[in-house]
Amino acid sequence: MSDHNQRMRRMRQNPLLRDMAADYVLRPEDFILPLFVRNGEDIRHPILSMPGHFQYSPDVLLEELSEWAAMGLRGVMLFGVVDAADKDAVGSHAHDPDNAVCTTLRMVKRAGLNLLLMTDLCYCEYTDHGHCGPLAKPVRTRRKGGRMPKAAAEEGFEGVDNDATIELLAKQAVIHCEAGADVVAPSGMMDHAVASIRRSLDSAGFIDRAIMGYSVKYASAFYGPFREAAQSPPQFGDRRGYQMDFRRATTEAIREAQLDIAEGADMVMVKPGMPYLDVLREVSRAVSVPCAVYQVSGEYAMIKAAAQAGWLDEKAAVLESMYAFKRAGAGPIISYHAVDVITWLAQNRE
Ligand code: PBG
Repeated sequence: MSDHNQRMRRMRQNPLLRDMAADYVLRPEDFILPLFVRNGEDIRHPILSMPGHFQYSPDVLLEELSEWAAMGLRGVMLFGVVDAADKDAVGSHAHDPDNAVCTTLRMVKRAGLNLLLMTDLCYCEYTDHGHCGPLAKPVRTRRKGGRMPKAAAEEGFEGVDNDATIELLAKQAVIHCEAGADVVAPSGMMDHAVASIRRSLDSAGFIDRAIMGYSVKYASAFYGPFREAAQSPPQFGDRRGYQMDFRRATTEAIREAQLDIAEGADMVMVKPGMPYLDVLREVSRAVSVPCAVYQVSGEYAMIKAAAQAGWLDEKAAVLESMYAFKRAGAGPIISYHAVDVITWLAQNRE
């Protein structure tokens, strides 16, 4: 008798056995594409740190969306990009039903595209200070003769006013749903945001619109390219007063997710993705709602840059990261690679 009856390579010897043994599959329906939309016409402005991604005006985006929907894309997440002239301390433009996000929602609904329309609810793109809601105490950024030095502004920063922000989010959610959003996703990490949004959607008659909580969102350096894309970097201070500290244990993440679910979240999310697979694993096991993962802008930029330099095989690296999310328990995967992945899945099937 052989001492070597346990031969792991037996099941790896050819593609038929490997495919048969595969425990995980990727489906086009798993993917949600984040998109940046700004007011105007005929705009397709490249985002330098995210090659292949653009700021679109609603008309151009509608054309792209019909093409992607025909390819099998089923979900998008819209982010508004706002001109400096439209920003103020409280982010009023977020409540303008003619802003780029609302215009796009109406156009897509009118066109009858078979797409799940999700919107990001936040104020960092809409405030002149770039924080995710109105400030607890206004910060002076100008003094006679010019701008305050950044350090002086930093000293006056006392963080975001949580309870004022969740009141505003409740309004923003209704405005997005009136324009046609199917799912709203608050990303500002404000306490009780989901409860406030649920209450206001229900009283506006939107009992059937879903909420995806950005429940587990860390204060991460990997959001760098997004802040260029959305023109939303904080002008002073940082987001560590509201986003999570990555030095904490995963038990905090589970508690965040459970609180959002108790407040009425229909789905939760872990963000970023690849550096937080342990968190994704534990949160997805702890909850009984779909647990999404957000592979963020910095993760996209890293893979793209290495691929452009010829240091990585882009398709192989991207698909490998998607299977990693599935193994870790991801439901929906929000990724800037979504259209590429759907294209590759279709090619593999041919
Ligand atoms: C807005 C928001 C951010 C991201 C999603 N929603 C930026 C931030 O929190 O600074 C980041 C997404 C990405 O990096 O792809 N609050």
